[in-house]
Amino acid sequence: MRNPVLEVIHAPRQADRTEVCDIHGEYTSRHIMARIWTRCPECAKAAAAKAETDRQEAEKAARDARWSRQLGESGIPLRFQDRTLPRFVAENDGQRYALQFAVDYAAEFEHGHSGRCAVFVGEPGTGKTHLACGIALRAMGKFGASALFTTVSKLSRRVREAKSFDADETESAAIRIFVYPDLLIVDEVGVQSGTDAEARALFDVINDRYEQRKPTIFLSNLDLGGVQAALGARVFDRMREDGGEVVSFTWGSHRGRIAA
Ligand SMILES: Nc1ncnc2c1ncn2[C@@H]1O[C@H](COP(=O)(O)OP(=O)(O)OP(=O)(O)O)[C@@H](O)[C@H]1O
Ligand SMILES: [Mg+2]
Ligand SMILES: [Zn+2]
Repeated sequence: MRNPVLEVIHAPRQADRTEVCDIHGEYTSRHIMARIWTRCPECAKAAAAKAETDRQEAEKAARDARWSRQLGESGIPLRFQDRTLPRFVAENDGQRYALQFAVDYAAEFEHGHSGRCAVFVGEPGTGKTHLACGIALRAMGKFGASALFTTVSKLSRRVREAKSFDADETESAAIRIFVYPDLLIVDEVGVQSGTDAEARALFDVINDRYEQRKPTIFLSNLDLGGVQAALGARVFDRMREDGGEVVSFTWGSHRGRIAA
């Protein structure tokens, strides 16, 4: 019985012929089957290149979207989202030490962080938030770690609010928010109200992180004694364990220089 489809498939191939592309001029077209002939090879190449560029652009857009979501969720203030480690200018030994500390601290996220904590203390404008955010940006961007930037008052407010009977969130869920990230940065230590509830919220978070060996960086305008008083002895002791380090930002403010 005649099968027209098979007849077409098995029909003898025709000889090559010369065709003309509007863009690329003459090319050799090969017969594939029936009325199907190869098209201009240059056009085919251009189409493949465009498909590859489109694919790369889509991939980059997805990567950018992922990164901006990650940045958004990190709590890093907008102003500090471009405060990378290389943008920290080190002009004296203290700044060089602080920058090297930050670089080493961030590098630990490549193979599981030791969990050692850090305290950055110093006068306003000396770059504590810049360096801490620089660590977070590198840990996230280069090593795929998760990071969260918060303040003592934000942290304790969230945990305390979860305690109230009509809260949307349970207390343990609120604590988990701050325990989950690979890196937690707690800014404005010593600006808090200093209530027992605040100290308890901080302790609950830091104790869980300590047990899971997750690092926390504290930032403060107070001196070390002030930080100890603000955090409470129990939090402070946990922080000092495992080689937790205090970095003193002893130089002048950078803020005036930016305006200048
Ligand atoms: N060494 C530096 N190189 C480049 N920029 C710096 C440096 N130090 C500080 N800055 C910039 O100066 C501004 C103030 O720094 P930052 O906010 O980090 O100070 P801070 O120590 O956190 O101050 P505060 O205690 O008031 O919070 C920021 O814009 C920061 O990027
Ligand atoms: Mg700051
Ligand atoms: Zn062509």
